[in-house]
Amino acid sequence: MAMTMSMLDAAYQANRRRTQMIFDFVAPEAYYDRPIPLRHPFVFYEGHIPGFSFLTLVRRALGGAAIDEELERLFQRGIDPANLSEANAATPGSWPARQAVRAFANACDARVRDALANARLDDPSNPRLVRGESAHNIIEHEQMHQETLLYIVHQLPRERKRALPSEHHDRERPAYRRVSIPAGEATLGAQRETIAFGWDNEFDENTAYVPAFEIEADNVTNGEYVAFVDAGGDPPPFWRRAGDAWHLATLFDTIPLPHSWPVYATQRQAAAYAAWKTLRLPTEAEYHRAAYGTPEGEERAYPWGDALPDHTRGNFGFARFDPVPVGSYPGGASAWGVNDLVGNGWEWTSTPFAPFEGFRPMISYPQYSADFFDGEHFVMKGASPVTHARLVRRSFRNWFRSDYPYMYATFRCAA
Ligand code: AVJ
Ligand code: FE
Repeated sequence: MAMTMSMLDAAYQANRRRTQMIFDFVAPEAYYDRPIPLRHPFVFYEGHIPGFSFLTLVRRALGGAAIDEELERLFQRGIDPANLSEANAATPGSWPARQAVRAFANACDARVRDALANARLDDPSNPRLVRGESAHNIIEHEQMHQETLLYIVHQLPRERKRALPSEHHDRERPAYRRVSIPAGEATLGAQRETIAFGWDNEFDENTAYVPAFEIEADNVTNGEYVAFVDAGGDPPPFWRRAGDAWHLATLFDTIPLPHSWPVYATQRQAAAYAAWKTLRLPTEAEYHRAAYGTPEGEERAYPWGDALPDHTRGNFGFARFDPVPVGSYPGGASAWGVNDLVGNGWEWTSTPFAPFEGFRPMISYPQYSADFFDGEHFVMKGASPVTHARLVRRSFRNWFRSDYPYMYATFRCAA
């Protein structure tokens, strides 16, 4: 296992602190609010994150005793309903008092930390512990939920948030550029033994032949998207109309629309914009080729090369909560000169979320991906400002429904 036990415990604690910071953005009176009706209220996440860690690592992998069977069941899993009536059917009518949730969360944390410090986490004879699977799982699961939580906080009315002061800059966008990428092969997925941890949908490694195509060097900006809205296109979800001007709802504020920022849109809106330009969205394989391919033919671990992700490479890892102007990270450009493929917003692809050949549901969370191979979810690649740096890896795949309006997801067009 690439991470030692003390590193895993440190990662767990760092995760808990960041999650706590995010909960502090929720006004106490908003604890039972459900600002996104297709997701559970905040109370669920306070129990779910440590409850899932406890259930996955301590109970299921290590065979530990229960803390509270009923709460463990209540907080076991989130929802992704297709519509409001499914959502209402899936949401409990009442939730426990916050004190009870916190007591449960603290009990889970104590047991998880004891396991991270003392148990055998990497045990080839226990399927849930092969290569430390359950320990890595719970670390990345919480990191993904930090993004979930933030995009739900985003939807709260301002008076139900405890906002931080934030600063935003707009500027002239770089000149419009499209890059020609010659035909070649792209490697998707990963080999099970070559990465410390990956979710089930990242395996196996596979090769796609990608015919020559063109791709925009920068994400479509709010400024470019204005022309589409003026021509009758759907306004994107984070835009707000104020008089005759467009504004943007950032995490904590509403500001005049920054024209140089990537537009955040649903996959359907993104595809409609591209069609209006007589262009299209890139496929997942084209994203890989643009991000990780090189003119010399070899592929790299990150768009910028093999150096580990840091804040010079892109707007990810919670350096800020909102986007920055496109093209702000020359140090993160791919070998072809394509900008911001990782960071500043997930990138929509036209590829339906589906298993790679050799897919096996992961033992520590068999429904993680398998429940979403339904043709209604589409692959997103890259990262948003609030994607943890640990999730920045070539094989990581994210997915949402094509009309899900809450994600920090942008796009660029291909031809
Ligand atoms: C991979 C981000 C789509 O939020 O639904 C968290 C992650 N799965 N708990 C989601 C997840 C279960 C998942 N995404
Ligand atoms: Fe979850």
